[in-house]
Amino acid sequence: MVEKSGRFIDNAQPLYNLETTITGVTMADKQESIHGQWTGRWGFILAATGSAVGLGNIWKFPYITGENGGGAFVIVYLMCIAVIGIPIMMAEIMLGRRGRQSPINTMTALAIQSGHSQKWHLLGWMGVIAGFLILSYYSVIAGWALAYVERSMTGAFNDSTPEMIKTLFGSFVANPLQLIFWHSLFMFLTIVVVARGVQGGLEKAARYMMPGLFMILLLLVGYAMSAGDFSKGLNFLFAVDFSKITTNSIVIAMGHAFFTLSLGMGAIMVYGSYLPKDASIGKATLIIAVADTVVALLAGMAIFPLVFANQLEPGQGPGLIFQTLPLAFGHMPWGSFFATLFFILLTFAAWTSSISLIEPAVAYLVENRGITRVRASILMGVSCWAMGLLTVFSFNLWSKFTPLSFISIFEGKTIFDLLDYLTANIMLPWGGFFIAVFAAWFMAREASMDELALEYRWLYNIWRFLVRYITPVAVLIIFLKLVS
Ligand code: PHE
Repeated sequence: MVEKSGRFIDNAQPLYNLETTITGVTMADKQESIHGQWTGRWGFILAATGSAVGLGNIWKFPYITGENGGGAFVIVYLMCIAVIGIPIMMAEIMLGRRGRQSPINTMTALAIQSGHSQKWHLLGWMGVIAGFLILSYYSVIAGWALAYVERSMTGAFNDSTPEMIKTLFGSFVANPLQLIFWHSLFMFLTIVVVARGVQGGLEKAARYMMPGLFMILLLLVGYAMSAGDFSKGLNFLFAVDFSKITTNSIVIAMGHAFFTLSLGMGAIMVYGSYLPKDASIGKATLIIAVADTVVALLAGMAIFPLVFANQLEPGQGPGLIFQTLPLAFGHMPWGSFFATLFFILLTFAAWTSSISLIEPAVAYLVENRGITRVRASILMGVSCWAMGLLTVFSFNLWSKFTPLSFISIFEGKTIFDLLDYLTANIMLPWGGFFIAVFAAWFMAREASMDELALEYRWLYNIWRFLVRYITPVAVLIIFLKLVS
């Protein structure tokens, strides 16, 4: 994805010299990041959509929607995408392109440039930590998808009943060695791509995989229409009943808006830093956000009709897609073929997201610690892998271990649940909050206007109004309600 010409720098980098790179306007004119640049606007859109569309859309969105009662939750989530997600995504891309370095250094540079405290680099650090924690469990779940590729190929779901599928899933996650095996494989794949500099094969693959994923989701929705309880499924997904909504579910919906758009931790910022100067940030954001939302809604429309037609429990948790979709595949013509294809595409979607989760950390290590990209990727990947073991054990050996149960919102949460809650619902929204505050209150108006380069002035004014007042206040109110 980054230009093929090998401008992607693989070697040790000297400490980044802030003096010469951030003085005054010259930085805004700095043409590209030392890590290289996307092959153009579409390279960026593809990569950022690859980051956004992942397990969040297909695995997480359906199960948290199921746990939080359906329609009203979906509406809150969609509102968060529009009011909070889109403006913050624009801000994040804008900061990245302005800074042209890893999020940590970008924040330092931009803070100095606008005459504020270098402490802003802590925002970059929080993102690096959030990405690390997210990838630790993300890789375990992506490992499930990989394991299900194998199961699909062997026709394990053919003519199965809901009970059989349930048992299959239950005995799979009960086995830590199996989970470790697939988790290791997935982490290995992630390391390989990040080490190679996110270029080459994966960009090409993403080009076909993403439309492929989209098509197969359509096929699944078609199947759900004919074989599932489609009206009940749609009703669950779209009929709004606000009595089902609690403050906690609003926090989860907002957290998911950040998670699904890859916001608040620097992934989109670092991708933005590889964006050519002439690409339109506004249009790119819109395309990414719409694609991401459509994929999530399609996944929901494929899954819930099956849930209701088979008397399954919508709120059954993280195993939801692994216990509903195989049922569909087990009964449709060419089922094992489509199942295999689906889980391969799901793995790819997860893969294009996982690389963005450690890219901020790797870019930082290359810039500041003078180690090569390959070493940085291995270092991060292996540590993340070790951290992932906590998630592996949350599904078996430690499934009854709920260390923070004495705090009411963490009651009954395993380590995996806690990691997910802490990152998606707390760290990402706060990261986003500070990104908005920095972009709107600390950065000079001229700087953001110049960098966003929106076509119309009123568009810029709307964006600025949103990130100045609406977005941070919304995040704040939602959290104040949670703790009060
Ligand atoms: N957006 C990804 C998904 O939906 C997850 C992700 C979160 C990726 C944060 C990068 C940063 O699966």
